[in-house]
Amino acid sequence: MLDVGQFCFKNKKVLIRVDFNVPITATGLVTDDRRIRNSLPTIQKIIADGGIAILISHFGRPQNGYEARYSLSRLLPTIADLLQHPVVFMPSCIGLEVRESISALAPGTVVLLENVRFHPEETIDDANFAQALALLGDAYVNEAFGTIHRNHVSISLLPTYFKKRFAGYLLQQEIAAVNKLFLKEQSPTMAIMGGTKLVDKVKPIKGLMNYVDHILIGGGLVLPFYNAKQLTAPCHTSEQGAAEAIAVDLFKQFNKNIHCQLWLPVDVVYASEVNEQADGYLSALEALPCGSHVLDIGTATQVHFASLILQAKTILWAGPMGIFEWSKFSAGTTAIAHAVAKATENGAFSIIGGGDTAAAIATMGYAHNVSYISTGGGALLAYIAADRKLPSLAALAL
Ligand code: 3PG
Repeated sequence: MLDVGQFCFKNKKVLIRVDFNVPITATGLVTDDRRIRNSLPTIQKIIADGGIAILISHFGRPQNGYEARYSLSRLLPTIADLLQHPVVFMPSCIGLEVRESISALAPGTVVLLENVRFHPEETIDDANFAQALALLGDAYVNEAFGTIHRNHVSISLLPTYFKKRFAGYLLQQEIAAVNKLFLKEQSPTMAIMGGTKLVDKVKPIKGLMNYVDHILIGGGLVLPFYNAKQLTAPCHTSEQGAAEAIAVDLFKQFNKNIHCQLWLPVDVVYASEVNEQADGYLSALEALPCGSHVLDIGTATQVHFASLILQAKTILWAGPMGIFEWSKFSAGTTAIAHAVAKATENGAFSIIGGGDTAAAIATMGYAHNVSYISTGGGALLAYIAADRKLPSLAALAL
């Protein structure tokens, strides 16, 4: 994989696949600009070299072509503002008009193409679409870590049309950060897994098991793991059922794996419904009433998990321990955030993955007390689940 920093882009038209799929309010306020902000060094390098930076991104999941709410023009002021540089917007991402407009631009210009997903061909393996995009540039840079798990044209096929294809600074940074888990530079290594996307989280655990010393389970993963461990399935949703089936399989593998320890909470805070007003009750996990919802880890678990975290030297945290947005169910996530910050202060390397965990860390005031906050959620987990082998990354190799 070539490093974008090792090449001079003078007079080159450079297609940079960024992931500007950022949260935005109805009034156009970008509420988390990290994906844009963290891509800036690559864009700045290319224009400083005297190249033209052509930004390609998706934004949301449009289903039928153009939809105003998913137009990347909505991000134009934010991008130009963060970059402190004008940005030329093209109302399409392919076509003769776009090609001619780009050809007329001066070196050092930044161009933002319209949402690549307005073309359904982006999400299928369409060579004509790849060709049309490739005609716009002389070189390709992948700076879209948040999307490396998608086998979409602009991610996995387009790079193969270029001899000069590079990994952007952010992509390199993200990979270097998560690879610390795989390389075990500092042990013990640990993954703290929680949140709500059960199937997305359970699969990477299978991958992590071979590399980390401890896996701590919280949030929406607790019940499927507990049910799988007990080999009973009292009351669960179909999503839990799917995660549970994987968890049953995982337990079998954990039993064979002497290197990795799986830790479930010993106690939890539960409620009879998922509702901010619902009363929360503390219970030993083993005594949890059937049909209840686990909304946080309990106090004994907070102490136990914190003591494990403080011994760890490399930590991945992906997924809150409960519904931290509701104050009565936020104590577990707060305790873990505090412990991860403390471990980092003591010399551990900590990686925060996924928007919810990043939001939790920020809300609790620890954003500057962890080593790395990833711009990837699903992508980070998919990278781990695939044992670092993704088609998008293979496509960057020469
Ligand atoms: C994300 O936000 O996870 C990435 O931008 C990928 O978006 P997608 O899930 O719509 O493919």
